[in-house]
Amino acid sequence: MKAAPGQRHEISNWHITLHRDGRTITADGKLTWQPGPSKALRLAGIGLAAALALWLCLRSWTAWAAVALVAADVLHSAGVAADVADGPVAAFLKGNVVQFAAWAAALWAAWLLARRKDSIGALWVAAGAGLLIAAASGVPDLSVLWSSTAPFAWGMTVAQVLVTVVTGFGFGMAIALPVRLRWTRDTGARTDAENTETDSGARAAAETEEREPVLIGSASAADAWTGGRLAAVESRTGEQRATGGSRPAEEHAADDPAKSSASMPSRRSFLATGATSVGGVAAGAAASALLLDDRKSSAPAGDLVAGLGTATVAVPFPHQAGISVPARQQGHGTVAAFDLVDGATREQLKALMKAWTAAIGDLISGRAPSDDDEIALGSGPCSLTITVGFGPSLFGKAGLDPAARPPQLAPLPAFGTEQLDPARSDGDLGVVLAADDALVVFHALRTLTRIADGTAKPRWSMSGFTRAPGSSPDPSATGRNLMGQLDGTNNPAASQPDFERKVFVAAGADPAWMRGGSYLVFRRIRMLLDSWEAQSTADQEKVIGRRKDTGAPLPGGTEHTPVNLAAQNPDGSLAIRGDAHIRLAAPAANGGAAMLRRGLSYNDGLTAGGEPDAGLLFLAWQADPDRGFIPVQKRLTVNMDALNRFTKHETSALFAMVPAPSGSGYLGQALLEPGTASSNAASPAPAATLPSDVGSGGTGRAVLGADGVQRITVTADDTLRYHPSVIEMSPGTVEITFKNAGTLPHTLSEDGTLPDEPRAGVDNLAAGDQTTMSLKLTRPGDYPFQCGYHAAEGMYAVIRVR
Ligand code: HEM
Repeated sequence: MKAAPGQRHEISNWHITLHRDGRTITADGKLTWQPGPSKALRLAGIGLAAALALWLCLRSWTAWAAVALVAADVLHSAGVAADVADGPVAAFLKGNVVQFAAWAAALWAAWLLARRKDSIGALWVAAGAGLLIAAASGVPDLSVLWSSTAPFAWGMTVAQVLVTVVTGFGFGMAIALPVRLRWTRDTGARTDAENTETDSGARAAAETEEREPVLIGSASAADAWTGGRLAAVESRTGEQRATGGSRPAEEHAADDPAKSSASMPSRRSFLATGATSVGGVAAGAAASALLLDDRKSSAPAGDLVAGLGTATVAVPFPHQAGISVPARQQGHGTVAAFDLVDGATREQLKALMKAWTAAIGDLISGRAPSDDDEIALGSGPCSLTITVGFGPSLFGKAGLDPAARPPQLAPLPAFGTEQLDPARSDGDLGVVLAADDALVVFHALRTLTRIADGTAKPRWSMSGFTRAPGSSPDPSATGRNLMGQLDGTNNPAASQPDFERKVFVAAGADPAWMRGGSYLVFRRIRMLLDSWEAQSTADQEKVIGRRKDTGAPLPGGTEHTPVNLAAQNPDGSLAIRGDAHIRLAAPAANGGAAMLRRGLSYNDGLTAGGEPDAGLLFLAWQADPDRGFIPVQKRLTVNMDALNRFTKHETSALFAMVPAPSGSGYLGQALLEPGTASSNAASPAPAATLPSDVGSGGTGRAVLGADGVQRITVTADDTLRYHPSVIEMSPGTVEITFKNAGTLPHTLSEDGTLPDEPRAGVDNLAAGDQTTMSLKLTRPGDYPFQCGYHAAEGMYAVIRVR
């Protein structure tokens, strides 16, 4: 039999002779045996079912997989109970105590997922229920797959199909959870190499993080959440399944199936006990995760919260902070405009700029400015940034020649659909303040206002907010606006080679006083939320061209899938409608026009008409409004952007946000005292602001090779430190081999201060990978680097050229 498994085997020939009433009857026969189906083949069927379930889950159809699993297991259990002669209903109820809990959990997860496809908690519940069902119902009955009989009322084939589905789908759903979590992390951390031009902004989540300057003393939300999840996992022992179900036929061939199924053999009970214990743990974890996911218990954000107050944002010279750094926008922001008082002189304006420069230096470092009003006494800087600029109307005042106003700062043209309030538009001076605490922002604005007294007076100010740090398990995830859309997906990304060109005025560009600066277009855009919310989700998605839940473009994929504007529906219509917002706003539709959108949501109560006075404080940063906001807004107006029906532009302003002051200089010095302050862009690298514990990963010196190149290996790991974190080298070329020895992805990102390199760094290094980057650093100085994902946890390094 071993020699020919699977073949028909002749066991014996038999021959019976019967004599009756003088007659002789003979009967001949053969006993043959053909082995049942191969176990491997049947187990492969389970593998297929698991693969199908995994595929469904990864397509965000976990709800359907869960419903199919429950249906199969209910049928399976019913078929087993129906085979019990005395009391099938009682057998069903008694035999499926654990299953009832698992079915309820699976259906609950399906319901949650039908409402919110990306609910991580629901995915945990689904995975836990899947594991429980597979382990408690499928595994103990696996022998049905290769048996010829089993206590099942509706035939062996049905029993075998159901056991295959129950086991495969259950395990498939359980496997889907880690795959999905890993996948989500990976897509969030996509690198430039994976993306195309049309995907540029999609990289924002991962890549704008790279420009996060040094944040001191903060812990990441991701860690806090992860820690919470693990801590919340409870071990629960499931109940033993006492009755019901099928069992190996060969073990009980002589038994009455009805009786034997009522007192299941110890093997099944044993398996069920173990299985339900495993499943119980999983279900406990799942439930705990769901509670955390749905914010029903407080996340242990202790470290994060403790670090928020003391966090500071380094100025990314030659740019002011608050434009592209910090990558994670602070939770609160105010945009304010000032007008010079009548008769203000250039000397007064210079004095004001000097005083503001000094006060800003104090405020962003957490020092009290002189004559402090003590409004924010006891609060730290909370990542405060203050960004200052000049409006078109400044020229012609304070002795500034109106003709000296650069063409980029010409007042914005009128756009058809706007209804602007002049009193809350424009201004001579513009300031953007942002921090993770509203009081800190308010205090900073009051300080600037107090200092300006006698030279400039407030014209208007508007406050808004973004997501609070720690509110999302993934700090790099794109935030939502008040319409519920993921907003900011397709922004220029800091690590793109043309990012600087798009956002900041180039070193050789005119006017010289704006080199390293950026033009800010500010619009207060009220959202007509009552009308918007009256639309179905599908209609809302057509207005934008992206899915509301995932932010994926309508033709399909994930949030970061490149937008295919040519994609068609099966009926030949455009998948992204002709008037969809992302079609009309896309750089491809506007001659490459691009801007860095970093808006704030606002909620100012109700209008006189009782409608929500809420919407978007739209802030767009660009090197030139003529290659940014203006052509895009024209197109959105002329081509009737579908979003126009739900928005109202109420105020507008344009400011030339000057470069950061160099050395002992002050904001706007190059304009107010031409010739005295050199162009910032041409200046040497500034002394970097480094965190005090930057050396916590140790110091290493690059070793000079025979070819004149210095080399060093830097390792990153799950301690969220670089080793070494201080890299010493002599002026010249260094090759840094960057190794990821941990399980989390890391970046090695510079913050734009490298003098001889336009952009450098490693965008995303997956766990276990390594790569080598080459840098030419000829100028002595300290060049800070940080991990784009873990800067908030203090993962920074410095290259020290001496
Ligand atoms: C309340 C008003 C607005 C809302 C709610 C809104 C919302 C959105 C959303 C949800 C996206 C898709 C996700 C993304 O890539 O960020 C988007 C993309 C974009 N929006 Fe807006 N937007 C508004 C106003 C504007 C204005 C006034 C402009 C410029 C004139 C603009 C320019 C853009 C650009 C350039 C994109 C990226 C398009 C692409 O390349 O895919 N948006 N907006």
